[in-house]
Amino acid sequence: MRIYYAPLEGLTDAIYRRVHRATFGGVEKYFMPFVSPSTSLSFTSRQQADIDPRENAGMPAVPQVLCKDAGLFLEMAKLLRDAGYTEVNLNLGCPSGTVTAKGKGAAMLKAPETLSRFLDEVYSKSPLPVSLKTRCGYFSPDEWPRLLDLFLCYPIHEWILHPRTWREAYSGVPHRDFFFEAAAKAPFPVVYNGDLFRASECREMEKFSLMLGRGLAVNPALAQEAQGGEPLTLESLRLFHDRLYREYLKWWPEKAVIGRMHGVMYYLTQAVDCPAPARRALKKSTTVDEYADAARRVFSESTLARDIHFTPPGNR
Ligand SMILES: Cc1cc2nc3c(=O)[nH]c(=O)nc-3n(C[C@H](O)[C@H](O)[C@H](O)COP(=O)(O)O)c2cc1C
Repeated sequence: MRIYYAPLEGLTDAIYRRVHRATFGGVEKYFMPFVSPSTSLSFTSRQQADIDPRENAGMPAVPQVLCKDAGLFLEMAKLLRDAGYTEVNLNLGCPSGTVTAKGKGAAMLKAPETLSRFLDEVYSKSPLPVSLKTRCGYFSPDEWPRLLDLFLCYPIHEWILHPRTWREAYSGVPHRDFFFEAAAKAPFPVVYNGDLFRASECREMEKFSLMLGRGLAVNPALAQEAQGGEPLTLESLRLFHDRLYREYLKWWPEKAVIGRMHGVMYYLTQAVDCPAPARRALKKSTTVDEYADAARRVFSESTLARDIHFTPPGNR
């Protein structure tokens, strides 16, 4: 079974990816959260650090670009090739309002003719193999047949499909039948992404390549467990947390570290049954001392949840 770690903007940065790889196995490639190049090809210092090849040395990490201008995409692909990357991923699935308002990400699925012109140029000129990460439509699943036919025309390096529309965002159930159709028809590799939160669910799809996002964010041992390795333990969860926290403290200002660790713990605490007072102390912590104390309490007072999986916010 081949498993990739999905890009999760605001979570799976270079530090996170390195610590994950040092602590757990089972992930063949890590897809980086998107960079959205401006015409000057300048980046925020965070984005710069994330795609810096020195930060990803020895890591199977794939950069992802969010862009609606083919010329800019090609410039970016050249830059990444010169930095030593061997693949670039194009984001055609991001549902965020700030992204789609600019006509990027999932919004590109709305206009198949424009998308075709964009992909014609990208695939005829890219200096690197281009993989795609897409949804199955914008407004409606009825758009799928046309999009499928469109994508089948290109030499896609790998097609990662999250079979929900933009409108569906993360709600409802992914249209797996669309994925099966794509996998049956495509002459290139197709990767399934969406709502695989337990090892048993991954095994049901084991004949396909899989990309896992929120499931791995909650259970960082999920990929290794799905492939017959060690399941998560409270000790490995704590080790992962402590390593991550130490690494962020080495490189980031304290305030930024606390903000990021709250984001990390939003997911990791779903893997444990944690008494309410410890959970509250964690939520309230704003300084490194408070945070370190609260995190220690969480790990010493919790037990591992019996059925570890991601639960969407509305259902918690
Ligand atoms: C917090 C968050 C950040 C995300 N950032 C990105 C991103 O930068 N690029 C991208 O292609 N998808 C991004 N996604 C989508 C995920 O990569 C993935 O497609 C989605 O979570 C469905 O997979 P899952 O059910 O395994 O989580 C993000 C999703 C979440 C929840």
